[in-house]
Amino acid sequence: SQGVTVQELAEALDVSPNDIIKRLFLLGTPLTMTQSMSDDLVELVADDLGRQIKIVTPEEENTFSFYDDPKDLKPRPPVVTVMGHVDHGKTSLLDAIRHTGVATHEAGGITQHIGASQVMINGRQITFVDTPGHEAFTAMRARGAKITDVVVLVVAADDGVMPQTVEAINHSKAAGVPIVVAVNKCDKPDANPDRVRQELVEYGVIPEEWGGQNMFVNVSARQKTGIDDLLETILLQADVLELKANPDTFASGYIIEAKLDRGRGPVATVLVNRGTLHVGDTLVAGMSYGRVRAMLDQHGNNVKEAKPSDAVEILGLNSVPAAGDEFRVFEDERDARDLAEQRSLKARIEEQNKVKHVTLETLFSEM
Ligand code: GTP
Ligand code: MG
Repeated sequence: SQGVTVQELAEALDVSPNDIIKRLFLLGTPLTMTQSMSDDLVELVADDLGRQIKIVTPEEENTFSFYDDPKDLKPRPPVVTVMGHVDHGKTSLLDAIRHTGVATHEAGGITQHIGASQVMINGRQITFVDTPGHEAFTAMRARGAKITDVVVLVVAADDGVMPQTVEAINHSKAAGVPIVVAVNKCDKPDANPDRVRQELVEYGVIPEEWGGQNMFVNVSARQKTGIDDLLETILLQADVLELKANPDTFASGYIIEAKLDRGRGPVATVLVNRGTLHVGDTLVAGMSYGRVRAMLDQHGNNVKEAKPSDAVEILGLNSVPAAGDEFRVFEDERDARDLAEQRSLKARIEEQNKVKHVTLETLFSEM
């Protein structure tokens, strides 16, 4: 892009232009007062002068300010994240809903990633997001709560409220997301679903029948009881929210998870929350960008487009984005690349600053 001149930057930073010219010279890019600098150079020089400059492109400025005319909004399916303490039966519950057997194939019986799957219930779609209950995965739970419309809090009726149950409640409340409670393992002889209700009151999760805001359903993922009731309750809760999105615009949403696949390169699972994503679209996700080469549903089938609330795997990014990154489709491939590169540069500068900082601290600790 057409950057600011040396003189303009000097004025903006309130330093002498000669200071900047000197630094540019040391960086191997001699320039005069009236020549313009690239964004990268501006950030580097400012950083050299101990200043933080954030160059915001018009694209970036728009990232968080989407506007849709209300008449363009159409109903969209709910995104539902399943959360709860480790081993309380989140994945088993999803297996019962999907008629799958994921839980039995997980290493150590522990979920270690966020998984998304779409289910049709009486002709209505629900996009489910599974999360790990293990205490190590706090960040994944926080992200799971952020991207969802409804949280299903799974609490084992024989175990009751445990630390990650409370953590999940806190994430949901922080994200302002309603909680439906699935009291699981009701088949167990020592199950006490009423005790779960009493315990949850302490954390502000109160059953409707007790005058609270939360719907509770007793289930058994193992015996597949209460499942239809739970699904109906989820849809009821979703209806209250009147979820809508504009499907007829450039897609945006979140990276749910991403990895480097040996054969296919960077693979990312994305959740669309606005617009429609097509094969061939160019997108930016955090520091990575690329053209969508292929798009796959949860069964590995090729699909051509993904609408609001759909979760799909995409191929074609130039690097692996971070889970939780926002993604956005760009009309112009060059804008996409510029934004991704600017973000990488900024991250590199921040990384360098961190290294300097650590060195300094190390120095002091040795004195
Ligand atoms: P993490 O993902 O690691 O947090 O665990 P999870 O909450 O997904 O639990 P998972 O579905 O893996 O189930 C944990 C254990 O509980 C497994 O041995 C399941 O077979 C068992 N389990 C799950 N649901 C039920 C149930 O309704 N009744 C009984 N008796 N056992 C269940
Ligand atoms: Mg699990």
